[in-house]
Amino acid sequence: MQTLAGKKILLGISGGIAAYKCAELTRRLIERGAEVRVVMTKAAEAFITPLTMQAVSGKPVSDSLFDPAAEASMGHIELAKWADLVLLAPATADLIARVSAGMGNDLLSTLVLATDAPVAVSPAMNQQMYRNVATQENLVTLERRGYTIWGPDAGEQACGDVGPGRMLDPMELVHRCEDFFGPKPLEGKRVLLTAGPTREALDPVRYLSNHSSGKMGFAIAQAAVKLGAKVTLVAGPVTLATPAGVQRIDVISAVDMHQTVMSHAASHDIFIGCAAVADYRPESIAEHKIKKTAENDNLVITMVKNPDIVASVGAMTENRPFTVGFAAETQDVEKYARDKLLKKNLDMICANDVSIAGQGFNSNDNALTIYGRDCEQSLPLASKAQLAQSLMLLINNKL
Ligand code: PMT
Repeated sequence: MQTLAGKKILLGISGGIAAYKCAELTRRLIERGAEVRVVMTKAAEAFITPLTMQAVSGKPVSDSLFDPAAEASMGHIELAKWADLVLLAPATADLIARVSAGMGNDLLSTLVLATDAPVAVSPAMNQQMYRNVATQENLVTLERRGYTIWGPDAGEQACGDVGPGRMLDPMELVHRCEDFFGPKPLEGKRVLLTAGPTREALDPVRYLSNHSSGKMGFAIAQAAVKLGAKVTLVAGPVTLATPAGVQRIDVISAVDMHQTVMSHAASHDIFIGCAAVADYRPESIAEHKIKKTAENDNLVITMVKNPDIVASVGAMTENRPFTVGFAAETQDVEKYARDKLLKKNLDMICANDVSIAGQGFNSNDNALTIYGRDCEQSLPLASKAQLAQSLMLLINNKL
């Protein structure tokens, strides 16, 4: 079936052993109706020849920024504009690093800089190189910028090592392209969500807050956009870039966040409370900096309860969106999460155990258990981007 009819895919091949799979990948994409143009790095040509890729794609292969003949037929900016999707496969650690640094020191990296088409990256490298902190951080950077990461697979590697770093099979990449261009399950849906911490002022220079980085909520916003939704993100004070296509409203305190959410909730289909909202705030904010005094060794601050945002949305009687909360727990995770599901009148709650190192607050990974009125599903440890996509698909199934 011509599932990719008319789709223009720019296949960027870098220098890894998996490059030999690109002939098969190109054939399968073309078989499904895609038009494929191939760009190779010089290192890629050590693994598969441009002639082979030209023969299977039926188009000249580009490999140099400084080739007058190639620039005269289809220049690099034209190529960048031509693509509906740029697929970097295999994407070596080196290519990933250069793209993440925003370099344009060869044709392929320049094209990635110059395109406004979505970019999918299919990592392929030795398992130790893949696990290296530099590579992991580069991949997180790309994900945050809206790039899609496909793979890698784990298993035996060409070098004899075993572990993650194998490029996805050509047919798996073809399926990912089909899904990418296929109908978007959240098309027409409006998603409102909160992310990050809140700050509760004590005086003009101090506040109470928590360790939320906003990464989980921002990943959900990005996943929802990729699945076709229109997204409004109410963000507490965080340093993250706004995911492409997301409408962001910045707030500081729980009261600000509450007001903003309540003025938007009725016009959205789904509300997700991912922010770590302060339960209490100081009863009053001192007009001037609170001074240390010789007489007092203790400072007593009276706190008052903040409005509960997700419970306020859960209690709406008109135009109530499908309401999803989070539960950040350190013990009896299921019990507390289920209590919150009922008490806050939610449709679903995502429980995370924030006592486990390497997940939860301020990490790139997380693990969630989702409880609904009639469902329960575990999403094991994975990147926040992957969890966000699975969560949005689960929510969509329950609408
Ligand atoms: O931001 P990251 O660093 O990526 O970390 C992600 C996270 C750990 C913050 C996230 O996964 C998470 O668990 N968010 C919810 C944190 C939280 O406040 O949990 P809670 O169990 O205290 O609150 C339960 C629910 O009530 C949450 O949906 C919360 O947003 C909501 N709430 C709480 C208090 C309040 N006044 N209003 C609320 O809406």
